[in-house]
Amino acid sequence: MKMSLRVLSMVMGLLLLAVAGFAEFAAKPNVPPQQAPGGAAVRPSTPKRVLQGEKIVALMCVHCHRDPSIKTLAGRPMPDLGTDLGNLYSANITRDPVYGIGKWTDQQVVTLMRTGTGRDGRLHLGMPRFAYLSDEDAASLVAFLRSDNPLTRATALPTPPQELSPLAKSLMGTALQPTPLVKHLAEAPPASQPVALGRYLAIGRYQCYFCHSQSIGTNNEAQPELSKGFMGGGEKMLDDDLKVRVSRNLTMDPETGLGKWTEAQFGKAVKFGMAPGGILHAPMPKFSTLTDDEVHALWTYLKTVPKIKNATPEDGAGSPK
Ligand code: HEC
Ligand code: HEC
Repeated sequence: MKMSLRVLSMVMGLLLLAVAGFAEFAAKPNVPPQQAPGGAAVRPSTPKRVLQGEKIVALMCVHCHRDPSIKTLAGRPMPDLGTDLGNLYSANITRDPVYGIGKWTDQQVVTLMRTGTGRDGRLHLGMPRFAYLSDEDAASLVAFLRSDNPLTRATALPTPPQELSPLAKSLMGTALQPTPLVKHLAEAPPASQPVALGRYLAIGRYQCYFCHSQSIGTNNEAQPELSKGFMGGGEKMLDDDLKVRVSRNLTMDPETGLGKWTEAQFGKAVKFGMAPGGILHAPMPKFSTLTDDEVHALWTYLKTVPKIKNATPEDGAGSPK
């Protein structure tokens, strides 16, 4: 997946919060990095979990963590995250015991994914937090990362230290905080409950809301629906060529959202990047392995999300090009 986060807006959002809403921030549960709890024991590896983990990693992790020359998850520089927080590198998450996560416990890996806190207590920036990932999906991710898939082959390459900007350093511990551990599902809801499954996919497993709300800086990872402009689009992100792309309005507003789309059009856009208005660019992932049930669940869920009127470039709202 191509995940390029426009960190400037994140920082601006955080600054605004720091100025205007500090009390709100302070009231949020706040887990100091060194005390981040590990969560429940991680379910053991099975062939089914390895397969499920492979599916999720391909969609949600490979783009940021794959070294394009070595072709393992040895990490890469992340210019597509912008430079407001500094020069960030995605980490080596191969099985290497020294440079990768070979010696991390399963719980440490899951805690990092859910909260952003690493096993050394350090807050990791630049990676979305999978706060609502189900226990089953978390176990599947770990099972895959431990498997003998070529992507996870132990690669003895150190991750360069993050070069945080003075701004990022000054916001550490105040505006930049780990996400508290939240009560999450044990399993994804069944396809017979499409709204519940769609919600889980959109905020738990595939993070649609993370990119498709107003700004990453005003997202609320512990209570995603309270994110500003939830699912209404508008976040500016960088594509592979560091060109700005604006995430789009996924609410059912008929003028600026998906209100006039059919489920079939939605499925084609999400799976293959072919939208009625044209080809979609990174960082929008191509969710090509979604099942019909999953597409249906996402579509059914989106119909329940409060409509927002917010024109994005395909509606003629100032294309960023
Ligand atoms: C938007 C890009 C991005 C995506 C998507 C992403 N990561 Fe990361 N990840 C990062 C960055 C950047 C770091 C390093 C942060 C730091 O060290 O401060 C990181 C760090 C990590 C670490 C910590 C490794 C260490 O040595 O500290 C693990 C484990 C990890 N990611 C796993 C995953 C998994 C599993 C997924 C998919 C479910 C994923 N990441 C998706 C960018 C990303
Ligand atoms: C990493 C960020 C990111 C994630 C995660 C993401 N998207 Fe997107 N999405 C975008 C961006 C950016 C665009 C606009 C791309 C362009 O301008 O070519 C987009 C475009 C779209 C469009 C086209 C809408 C239109 O009006 O043309 C749909 C539909 C869509 N995304 C659905 C989803 C769904 C459903 C999910 C979760 C399963 C999701 N996206 C996850 C970033 C993301």
